[in-house]
Amino acid sequence: MISNKVQAVVLAAGKSTRFKTGRTKLLEKICGQEMILYSTRLLEALDIPTIMVVGYQKDAVIEQIQQRHQEFITFVVQEQQRGTGHAVQCAMQHLNLDPNRDLILIMNGDMPLATPDIISKLYEQHKSTGAELTFVTSHCEDTHSGYGRVITTERGLKIVEAKDFTGDASEHCWINAGIYLVNRRFLQEQITAIEKSEKTEEFYLTALIEIACNKGLTVSTITAPFDIVRGINNFQELWAAEQVKRAELIRYWMEHGVHFSVAHNVHIDLDVAIGSGSYIGCGVHLLGRTKIGKNCKINEFSSLENVTLGDYTEILSHSMVSSSTLGSNVMVGPYAHIRDNSHIGDGAYIGNFVEVTRSTIGAGTKAKHLAYLGDAEIGTAVNIGAGTVTCNYNGNTKNKTYIGDRAFIGSNNTLVAPVTIAKNAYTAAGSVITENVPEHALAIARARQVNKDNYATQLRTPAQPQIANITFVAAQKNKLSTDHL
Ligand code: UD1
Ligand code: MG
Repeated sequence: MISNKVQAVVLAAGKSTRFKTGRTKLLEKICGQEMILYSTRLLEALDIPTIMVVGYQKDAVIEQIQQRHQEFITFVVQEQQRGTGHAVQCAMQHLNLDPNRDLILIMNGDMPLATPDIISKLYEQHKSTGAELTFVTSHCEDTHSGYGRVITTERGLKIVEAKDFTGDASEHCWINAGIYLVNRRFLQEQITAIEKSEKTEEFYLTALIEIACNKGLTVSTITAPFDIVRGINNFQELWAAEQVKRAELIRYWMEHGVHFSVAHNVHIDLDVAIGSGSYIGCGVHLLGRTKIGKNCKINEFSSLENVTLGDYTEILSHSMVSSSTLGSNVMVGPYAHIRDNSHIGDGAYIGNFVEVTRSTIGAGTKAKHLAYLGDAEIGTAVNIGAGTVTCNYNGNTKNKTYIGDRAFIGSNNTLVAPVTIAKNAYTAAGSVITENVPEHALAIARARQVNKDNYATQLRTPAQPQIANITFVAAQKNKLSTDHL
């Protein structure tokens, strides 16, 4: 059992200089998850106790991992980033000396696509060959890639780092992936034998391979598909890795009965779930922990983040929904915005240019056009007229609007919170509602209309002098322009 025999060291202290952002690359996201968490989730799934070497921006890295309650990880600090060999050296004194755990799995923290399968294969190979050190290799035909190249020597193998490689790259596409399984005793004895690179002044962990071969010890390798072992050192590699991960996720959901209209144009995060029979349109963003029910339709260019949807719900195009739950048979959009812990009941309709925030909308309620519903608790089968605004903010506090079941809010209402419109009440179009409205009542809160007979004709009568005036101004302008000549 690999989990009883192995302990891991993850290297996560590097400066990420090739990203050119000043931030640690290990917190860059791939399909919504920080890069470093791919490694820790992999090791968690394999139940392998882990030491993580942190250094550059270590507090942010540690905080991210602690948020996930990954208690199987012990942190060790590499104060100065002097290379991968030095990073492992920093971890040595923290290794568990349990003789049953005498295999050390060392992984770069920047390879998010690694699978449990490849770790199991590495372990099997190491056991069956009786090697001192086994490492994962792959093939990369990109001659500009920064991978260390695996070179065959008279005594076995060695790795030449990209910065030191002077040969013809096109003839050397066998590369080092950055995952190693090493016998603890060998590691303890030889980690200090690594010499500093003259070129970079770094201690390369990869030098261990040549050290082992020169001592006549067995070094073995396994080969993995390149997509699994991609290392991420810059934004181009981050983008490429995300393409691979996203394609994997989309294929998974396709196999589970989800129809993507333009699959290559959808963004989907790792922890998203989609019910069978659902349709995902072009340019849709499905983010965070979004859960979509069965037979839903998410139309083009809509974005859903941390949203739960029931079945048969449809989001029309260009809508944004976040941190909210929507029931079944709900209709949203186009151009709707639902956010901040809102709950939309079954069969409700949140139409175009409607914004809902921190509000509960009951089943069958309709707000079909141009409304702002903030801090509102709205019952079932309510009609919200076009142009309704809940005035929830007085510049100091947020106040609630309560609307009872089957109430009818006329168009262009201004509901000044705190205010309650009881069940079955009506409000007249154009009202400014500042007082509570009792059940079954009709509230009219607007100025009464006055019609002044013939007043419009009178208003139009003085039109002639106005035209004369315009002619006069034009004449003046001409005069000015000729004067100037
Ligand atoms: C490394 C390997 C290279 C291999 C490639 C695979 C070395 C010397 N080279 O190169 O052979 O083909 O990975 O992707 O190991 N780190 C530290 N402390 C340091 C320096 C780095 O913890 O002082 C960490 C980084 O945060 C990173 C990992 O080690 O997670 C690898 O470092 P990186 O700079 O990405 O090495 P590569 O140049 O990719
Ligand atoms: Mg790297």
